[in-house]
Amino acid sequence: MAMTRRQAIKSAAAFGAALAWPSMVLGKGRAGDGKRGAVERRDLFPQGVASADPHPDSVILWTRRPPVGESRAALLAVEVAEDAAFAHVVSRTRAALSADADWTCRVLAAGLRPSRVYWYRFVDEHGFASRTGRTMTAPAETDGQPVRFAFVSCQNVTQGASNAYRRMIWEDERAAEADRLGFVLHLGDFVYEIVWYPEDRPQGMYDRRIRDVVRYPNGEKIEDFHVPTDLEDYRALYRGYLTDPDLQDARARWPFICMWDNHEFSWKGWQSQQNFGSGVRPAQTRKVAANQAWFEYQPARVEKVPGAAAGADRFAAPAVRNVPIERFDDHGLGLEDGNLAAISSLKLYRAFRFGANVELLLTDNRSFRSEPMGDHPEVAAFDQPNVPYFDSLEIAEVLDAGRSFAGGRPPATIPFGGAEKANPRRTAPPQSMLGAEQKVWFLARLRASTARWRLWGNSVAMLDWRTDLQNLPPELRAKWPFAGYGLMGTGDWASYRTERNEILDLVRHENLAGFATLAGDRHAFAAGLLSAALPPSPLAPAGVEFIVGSISAPGLFEAMSYKISKDHPLRALYLHQPPAPAPLEPAINCTLLHGVRASLELQRTHDREQALKASNPEVAPHLAFTDVGGHGYAVVRAGADDLEVEFVCVVRPLEKSDRPDGGPLAYRITHRARRWAGGAAPRLERTRVEGALPLSV
Ligand SMILES: [Fe+2]
Repeated sequence: MAMTRRQAIKSAAAFGAALAWPSMVLGKGRAGDGKRGAVERRDLFPQGVASADPHPDSVILWTRRPPVGESRAALLAVEVAEDAAFAHVVSRTRAALSADADWTCRVLAAGLRPSRVYWYRFVDEHGFASRTGRTMTAPAETDGQPVRFAFVSCQNVTQGASNAYRRMIWEDERAAEADRLGFVLHLGDFVYEIVWYPEDRPQGMYDRRIRDVVRYPNGEKIEDFHVPTDLEDYRALYRGYLTDPDLQDARARWPFICMWDNHEFSWKGWQSQQNFGSGVRPAQTRKVAANQAWFEYQPARVEKVPGAAAGADRFAAPAVRNVPIERFDDHGLGLEDGNLAAISSLKLYRAFRFGANVELLLTDNRSFRSEPMGDHPEVAAFDQPNVPYFDSLEIAEVLDAGRSFAGGRPPATIPFGGAEKANPRRTAPPQSMLGAEQKVWFLARLRASTARWRLWGNSVAMLDWRTDLQNLPPELRAKWPFAGYGLMGTGDWASYRTERNEILDLVRHENLAGFATLAGDRHAFAAGLLSAALPPSPLAPAGVEFIVGSISAPGLFEAMSYKISKDHPLRALYLHQPPAPAPLEPAINCTLLHGVRASLELQRTHDREQALKASNPEVAPHLAFTDVGGHGYAVVRAGADDLEVEFVCVVRPLEKSDRPDGGPLAYRITHRARRWAGGAAPRLERTRVEGALPLSV
């Protein structure tokens, strides 16, 4: 239902935005006071323009106009038009600028028509204009046309180039109108708060040159990197990132829908706490600062602290102190007042509807999660040193479930390295990713959805990456002193398994058809079936998941090629060294899809066919595809009867491409799920491949 003007006024105030409404137009086709004689001056709008969170009748617009040299502005005129030349202006308003919001400006453009392209721009009182932005409204709820959008994550502009955005723009400009993207879903790590200055790492990072993009005015140096300490630092981070030209062009072309992941606050952060590897550090003030900077730099339909008294465009920062959390609820939520105030100072979880086909739910997987068990000092006793990147799956299950393991009968001890170690989580509640309140909201929205597809913008992934380390040949078997599988990666849903399986089981038992999650964070592409159980238990798929590779942040294959030494006895599980001069290949893809014997055979014979003959089909019947080395983006097409997701993989983005298409592609691959009926099992099929897949078949 379209908003009334009264509702629009209320919404705009809640979002900290000015309102642009059609009746505010002075006369159709007449140039506005801002437009007359306006001169585009991109240097005065150094972070560009953006739009966000499209609804069928409205969208949020954003820019930043700071003082530049002697040029200061206090007021921006905003124009929204049906054409790029602003001949048909549909609404216009004014928005005040102030240092309190770091000269950023939000406008809710409402009273618009569904599925329409609009253009917008900001003009200051001196007649200096921003670049022109393009945006799109969402389709009306009854619209049955397929919904198309891209999803992305993990851009590190200090360590790589945003060539993926350039490619996305290039393809979209050439696409038929019906095939163009309606929006970009950003699943977090929009910024990386851990920053190396070029002088900190003259050798670079892996294959990367360090760029001098962010300097913290205050900052704290930990080991050889810098982290933000206060509001000015977090603002400096966004200001630096948003000077990236390809990111700016993408924000000026499509509305973005953004959910943060960890690095918008802190690397190993949870709730308002930090951990840089030497224990938990209370960081309530930093969480508030991170939230405020996000609020200022990411336009979104998010409400500030309820009842905040500050002016419309200002974030009301609660007063908090950095004190340890001593009491937790049964979901691991820290009950310290400042922790609660910090994490509720900005509520990001929210839902969108796109036509008849798509319900999009976004969850905040960082602000309410219980402390990751992998960071508990008692749990570190279960680290094993021999097989990098892997943990024992059976131990991870016991530790995650805590007192709920085996129907409430957790073991008192856990066998480890030939000894029995006390189970440190025997009386603890199972880990929670969502926290109690958000989980209630999420499950209610999931059940209530009437769209063909229930899409979950889920910043962290659910699919298990595991391999059969128990099947290592006798000469290597001693490296893995466990009976079962190894699980790769911790910290995402694969280690918050109890809650993951609770959600998947609920989806299946309640016949919630068309359930698909879209995830980032792993810096890898993957597609597969979501199943709480894997062999030797029968698969029980509840939905499908697609994980997008990073825009630019280094992935595990790149890291492994530096971290796994040439003489490591298990190197073949991670890296395939073909005969010289061919470059290293990501054998880890093969290990995750086919098991350890396949990768060992690959290294022995250099022959993929031979390797596949050694495949263990029990390792990954849930995975349709995985590539831990890929960068790029994903494109979703959600029609009434099928959901197609194309992964577009660019070559490693070490430098900005000078080509208009963003440089060469490594590959493209498309998977499709046909809409299944409630109670039926979803399936994934591969429909198209272009280019060579890196040991991923
Ligand atoms: Fe990331």
